Amino acid sequence: MSSLNEIVAVAKKAALRAREVQLKGLKEGTEIRSKGSLRDLVTAADIACEQVIARTVTESFPDHNLLGEEGGDQGRTSDWLWIVDPIDGTTNYSRHIPYFTTSIGVYYKGKPVVGLVANPLVEETFVAVEGQGAFLNDAPIRASSAIRFEQAVLAAGFHYDRDSNIDLTLNAIRTFFDRGIMDLRRFGSAALELCYVAAGRTEGYFEIGIHAWDFAAGAFIASQAGAVVTDAAGLPLTLKKSYVVAGAAGLHAAMLAELAPWHIAQENSPW
Ligand code: IPD
Repeated sequence: MSSLNEIVAVAKKAALRAREVQLKGLKEGTEIRSKGSLRDLVTAADIACEQVIARTVTESFPDHNLLGEEGGDQGRTSDWLWIVDPIDGTTNYSRHIPYFTTSIGVYYKGKPVVGLVANPLVEETFVAVEGQGAFLNDAPIRASSAIRFEQAVLAAGFHYDRDSNIDLTLNAIRTFFDRGIMDLRRFGSAALELCYVAAGRTEGYFEIGIHAWDFAAGAFIASQAGAVVTDAAGLPLTLKKSYVVAGAAGLHAAMLAELAPWHIAQENSPW
């Protein structure tokens, strides 16, 4: 069996190689187009990064499977699954806003065991390893110990599916302000938003409709740092497209209580 430390080393190497592609794309320009909806972007750098990450994983672990945002499921039968978002925050990347990440979550027999989220411009790498905790540039991190909304900076995300999700999200923001939160943020990379909860930079993050490649690594890092990450019913996330509610341990239950309308919407959602 591959050791978790070997997996981390390969994930770090893959993220560094992706960083070279990302920096080159920023310097020289990269093709940008829409996929799905007009606001859901993919750049040539997203695709090149995913290819370089997949190559790096396969060089070391030829039998591991990989699910990537751009390339899909490689379809290998394996206990190991690498879930990769080569550039999480593509809108930011395409506008040179320095909040984009490479997100790599590794699952063994259906459970997360390693997470890595690298923000290449800010040079911050968040890592978590099953049984070892969560780290930012190799220093241990812990989620916030806040227990009241008055102590909380929360972050919201707006996925590309809009319709009623926008009302649900805006109403939730209004509710949290009514409950007295200090402030609200929207960074534009779900993986980063989850890592900021892990590092205690924010007390919580909530978003409707994000995919496994957006949350696999970040949710694991946040939970290893002592935060709680669930869907809107308070259940553990699966690999399905999800409602995601992440919070400091002392605030998560209160966040869920305020997000009761999300729970109802989730029950009726097609995914
Ligand atoms: C997106 C980012 C964004 C979130 C969207 C995601 P992408 O990922 O994480 O913050 O609001 O829901 O889809 O498309 O940039 O990889």
